[in-house]
Amino acid sequence: MAVYVTGDTHRDFSRFQEDAFPDGPNLSKDDYMLICGDFGGVWDGSPEEEGLLDWLDAQPFTTLFVSGNHENYSRLASYPQEQWRGGLTSVVRPSIRLLRRGQLFELDGKRFFTMGGASSREIPILERADPMFAVRRKWHEYRKNVYWIRGETWWPEELPSEAEYRTARDTLDAAGWKVDYIVTHCAPTFIQNLFDLKEAQATGSYLVNGLTDFLEEVAQKATFDCWFFGHYHGNYVIENRYVLLYDNIIRLTAETSDKT
Ligand SMILES: [Fe+2]
Repeated sequence: MAVYVTGDTHRDFSRFQEDAFPDGPNLSKDDYMLICGDFGGVWDGSPEEEGLLDWLDAQPFTTLFVSGNHENYSRLASYPQEQWRGGLTSVVRPSIRLLRRGQLFELDGKRFFTMGGASSREIPILERADPMFAVRRKWHEYRKNVYWIRGETWWPEELPSEAEYRTARDTLDAAGWKVDYIVTHCAPTFIQNLFDLKEAQATGSYLVNGLTDFLEEVAQKATFDCWFFGHYHGNYVIENRYVLLYDNIIRLTAETSDKT
């Protein structure tokens, strides 16, 4: 069994093609590709998207992801939930699973705590029910502003609910706040604050929020070997054990399963 980790895919799974990921053909469904949020493969439900999910499901490995901020939460909620390897998942395809928030999974003898989500609320969010919707949209388009529409391209579920925070704390309490790996989309506040915030000043997407503060609490209280996250679109190791992933794929465990 091997566990691989990568960053935001945004529905582009070309990094898993054989020429980009030569380990692929040697893997089995007992090997895992873990995506640190912004999976993006559950978005508009188009035939193209269904085909992409079918292609991913047909790959030799099992795909796992935590949620990011660029996900269609209405559609994600429509998939059946299933307890799997110690934690709660949503089953998108037989071998594509969302690892839900505040869960602890055992993979290859290691314990993975998962807490997806990130804030993009500082980007203007329009509501179709707003009588000024058309005017506001026209104004943002004229200014070439990025904007999102509630329930169509943005969902409040991008940040955890109070129940999910409670679940996360209960899970960590039960584990004695001791895990092997932590997998999230955004980073704890003190790590996020290390990034160049030029982009944040333009988009506001990297501001401190309740989730980054919660993750900071986890960083202070939990014992863990390594923390993987995405969101900031880069590949860096920070303070030895905080690993930002974007398009890089890293292998956590050395052994691969024997298909024969
Ligand atoms: Fe992203």
